[in-house]
Amino acid sequence: MKEPARHTITAALPYANGPLHIGHIAGAYLPADIYVRNLRQRGKEVLFICGSDEHGAAITIRAMKEGTTPRAIVDTYHALMGQAFQDFGIHFDIYDRTSSELHRETSQGFFLKLLENGAFSVQEEQQYFDEEAKQFLADRYIMGTCPSCGNPDAYGDQCEKCGSALSPKDLIDPRSTLSGAKPVLKPTQHWYLKMDEAQQWVDTWINTGMLDGTQHHDPKEWKASVLGQCNSWLKDGLRPRAMTRDLDWGVPVPLPGAEGKVLYVWLDAPIGYISATKRWAAEHNTDWEKWWKADDTRLIHFIGKDNIVFHAIIFPILLKLHGGYVLPQNVPANEFLNLEGRKISTSRNWAVWLHEYLERWPGRQDELRYCLATIIPEQKDSEFTWKDFQDKNNNELVSIVGNFVQRVFVLCHKYYDGKAPASGEKLDQDIALWSAVHGSVEEVAKHIDHFRLRDALSSAMNVARAGNKYLSDSEPWKLEKSDPERTRTILANSLNIGAVLSIVLEPFLPHTTAKLRRMLGIGVLPWNEAFRSDLIGEGQALGKPEHLFKPITDAEIQPEIDRLHANAPVETAPASAPAPGPAPAAPVAKANIAFDDFAKLDLRVGTIVAAERVPKADKLLKLSIEIGEASPRTVVSGIAMHFSPEQLPGQQVVLVANLEPRKMRGVESQGMVLMAEDASGKLVFVQPKDVVAPGGEVR
Ligand code: 2FM
Ligand code: ZN
Repeated sequence: MKEPARHTITAALPYANGPLHIGHIAGAYLPADIYVRNLRQRGKEVLFICGSDEHGAAITIRAMKEGTTPRAIVDTYHALMGQAFQDFGIHFDIYDRTSSELHRETSQGFFLKLLENGAFSVQEEQQYFDEEAKQFLADRYIMGTCPSCGNPDAYGDQCEKCGSALSPKDLIDPRSTLSGAKPVLKPTQHWYLKMDEAQQWVDTWINTGMLDGTQHHDPKEWKASVLGQCNSWLKDGLRPRAMTRDLDWGVPVPLPGAEGKVLYVWLDAPIGYISATKRWAAEHNTDWEKWWKADDTRLIHFIGKDNIVFHAIIFPILLKLHGGYVLPQNVPANEFLNLEGRKISTSRNWAVWLHEYLERWPGRQDELRYCLATIIPEQKDSEFTWKDFQDKNNNELVSIVGNFVQRVFVLCHKYYDGKAPASGEKLDQDIALWSAVHGSVEEVAKHIDHFRLRDALSSAMNVARAGNKYLSDSEPWKLEKSDPERTRTILANSLNIGAVLSIVLEPFLPHTTAKLRRMLGIGVLPWNEAFRSDLIGEGQALGKPEHLFKPITDAEIQPEIDRLHANAPVETAPASAPAPGPAPAAPVAKANIAFDDFAKLDLRVGTIVAAERVPKADKLLKLSIEIGEASPRTVVSGIAMHFSPEQLPGQQVVLVANLEPRKMRGVESQGMVLMAEDASGKLVFVQPKDVVAPGGEVR
């Protein structure tokens, strides 16, 4: 296998019949974007292609339901999806559409070349026809009773109740969804791709990687689920498949006598990748062909599992029978993402829509990118919950990345007036740090190369973890007076870890790393620079310490869950038990104090960044609370019977910050957290209703 000179990366063309939701993003577009960003960091030549799939029954049915035209539907959703991708930081080189003139020409030309090469057999078949609407009916236009489960509303291609794959002739009592009439069978002629003749080479190509006598790919690099689906098709035997349809929306079949027929959407859609490349090349005054035809081009399709057969079997057959094209080197398909315990469903409105998320959480793209990247359904279906989104934001982004960067910047501003200090001699502790960091950097790239993006993100986060641990172990805030040289070295190393983070996190969190680069005063750095430890020079002016992430409170998350249930009224949660009555208020029992007494209190908002049990003390937790100082406060709090330590990071609290420190079980507690007690005696945090930056005064 040749080392590729360039990468052509495609992400499945989404149907322009509805907005994008998080399932689309986690399944195809985010993985593709991460992969592409990393290739670019490594200096590879890449073309990243996507666009709207604007043909097929998915579009015409939506238009019919809404009493509008397919054109109006695709124009609306093409614009909406293109914008949402852009806003979310998924940056294709081109986001094209399949209803363009160039695409019509390209796919018709492709079809004619296939015809010339003998790829089709023409077959006449009996197909359902609606005599009232005067047209042949696509599979989705026919409904009837499912022969397997008796569902009276099964579609001609599938019963959504029992999941059986059907063909229209299987339905009992079929009816046309256009007119409601009983359809009649009428002969019609279609062009069938002779897939049966490709059986042998497809099998060899997929399972051994051999193509025309050379090693094309390593089948061990393909996901087991992709190989599994392909082999189940191969085992059943590939059969001829119609590449034309009787429809009036699509690319017309370019042959005399084929009026009223269009190309099958699964023929025209993948050719859309090619027409998009042509348009991009024309706009950039360059050649398109090398991206598809040069044998040192690596073609990779990012898709969801429902698209496997089309990208791993049918499109490769089309490309090969056409001749001159490379075949996909890998098809890293993902499984599906569920939402709050249910399948995502557009029709039931059980979804988190990307454009709506961006409206409700402006500027918080990376928080969602992060959460989704940790649950990419790489091996099996996975699940998004708003709680998990909150937890990952608070316990990982805020506590690990944000906290590290914040601590380093606060200290550098405090000690060195915002100028990067010089590193002195590296001690064993520093050498160990850099060996861990560079080991993690190496892992990130290795995981990405093998499409293990979740693992890649976890390795990238290990860089920030290493940084946090280094700070906590070396405690520069305690050394500043006694050993300024060592303090400078520790903070110089820490700033350089920040620089490495700006590189390794970029594929996942591009908005955050742009901010981090501004804070560090550096530009975009190539991947190899992440193996250095001297990216920030002495005297480099640093930006203001900024919070890269904000904690997300329950009060912000609950409305998201409520909205989901309110908008999807089916299957509502069981009615909840009546709320307990209000607790009798305790009578005020303390004597009045003067205002001046009250004013002596220094109350601050803080964010818990870490919590652990205190050994041999059932009731005590040791909390680290960030209140905007150089390092978090340690506070020992008697709340262990009410909270487990894992629940706490990210919680905002009110801290009595000037309470005299005192030792509890050998740990010095530097303040006290305010709590309220509910009717049942349970403790709850007193916290601001909206998120307040740590250190905010309570008056
Ligand atoms: O499943 C889908 O959403 C299809 N529109 C994907 C098409 S991918 C490619 F072939 F264009
Ligand atoms: Zn059924």
